[in-house]
Amino acid sequence: MADKPTKGLADVVAASTALSDIDGKAGRLFYRGYDIHDLAGHATFEETAHLLQRGTLPNREQLQAYSAELVRGRELGALVAANIAEIAEKQKPMEALRSLVSLSGADDPDKSSIEPEANLRKAARLTAQQPLLVARYHAARTGAPLPDADPSLSIAGNFLLQITGRRPSERAAELFDTCLVLHADHTMNASTFAARVCAATLSDMHSAIVAAIGTLKGPLHGGANEQVMKTLESLDPSQVAQSVRDKLAAGEKIMGFGHRVYKTEDPRATHLRRMSEELSAEEPKFYQMSKEMEEIVFETKGLYPNVDFYAASVYHYLGIPTDLFTPVFSISRMSGWTAHVIEQHADNRLIRPDSEYIGERDQKWKPIDER
Ligand code: COA
Repeated sequence: MADKPTKGLADVVAASTALSDIDGKAGRLFYRGYDIHDLAGHATFEETAHLLQRGTLPNREQLQAYSAELVRGRELGALVAANIAEIAEKQKPMEALRSLVSLSGADDPDKSSIEPEANLRKAARLTAQQPLLVARYHAARTGAPLPDADPSLSIAGNFLLQITGRRPSERAAELFDTCLVLHADHTMNASTFAARVCAATLSDMHSAIVAAIGTLKGPLHGGANEQVMKTLESLDPSQVAQSVRDKLAAGEKIMGFGHRVYKTEDPRATHLRRMSEELSAEEPKFYQMSKEMEEIVFETKGLYPNVDFYAASVYHYLGIPTDLFTPVFSISRMSGWTAHVIEQHADNRLIRPDSEYIGERDQKWKPIDER
């Protein structure tokens, strides 16, 4: 008979990884041994993706080669191009991305291989294509023209260009780039775990990423950032404290707060709070409301903001539509998911835990007419 499970697998070590590490008590996060505070604002998203997928922070030559591979990988497959308009009409953003990534597998030249070299190439292509999928989806649903990517801009800069239709300021591109760095990987979060479970059956990278996208979509995971913005927009700025107290008293969860692993401030929130403040000059309302919410939630429940809380106002200030916040999370996390698939395939064992049976026993079968 199996042991009692830990509900939600809390504190269960489900995999060994060299990709990221969290010290939940100290509120620290590391990618391959580098402190997130050293990477954020210093390393670009492209460098971070290289670190995760290829094992090292790239030197100039490696970065140039990797960036060129990303640019070549931006091309979308024929099946995606043929279906994107209908998908944009019928599916919400995260559903659409689930479909589009699945379709993109059909035209990937390495689709039938899970060999290490093929996985590295697919990881780069998926990372390059995800921002373009979001931008193409958004253009298809709004009918707005999609500006061509500018080769002088980073992934972050091009995404802002293609979503807003305007070339972003250098600072806006830098700040968004840091957002992508902050969201790139995070140990055994639910979507990464889903990707690894899928990959561990020796299924292919696109299948694992589809599992991850479906998992990220939920409001207890990546979907929280959109919910935060909706909360900010729904509150009367002069009644923030009372409204938050009322919600908590009614047993409601406030999205963007709490974390399974961090027992203190999420180090990513430290950066995002600062960015939100910096970007708030012209529209201080949402930053100020966020600060007030943070104070009340801490005072009442002792909970800290997680990565999704200040990401909401930051994305809003950068001109990103609210229903693309979770897709933005997927653009960044693609670098980590693909790195985890590479790692899983490199040293694989099927992930197949046990369960505790809590149903009836010794039932007697009866023919259908006697039930
Ligand atoms: N607002 C209000 N109360 C919260 C809360 C929140 N955001 N997060 C946790 N709590 C409370 C729970 O109600 C519970 O209280 P109780 O013991 O009195 O019942 C306690 O804190 C533990 O919460 P639980 O949901 O069991 O913790 P968890 O480790 O399973 O969940 C999260 C972690 C992140 C899912 C949870 O904090 C949450 O739902 N947060 C909001 C969604 C969110 O922001 N997700 C993004 C995560 S990066």
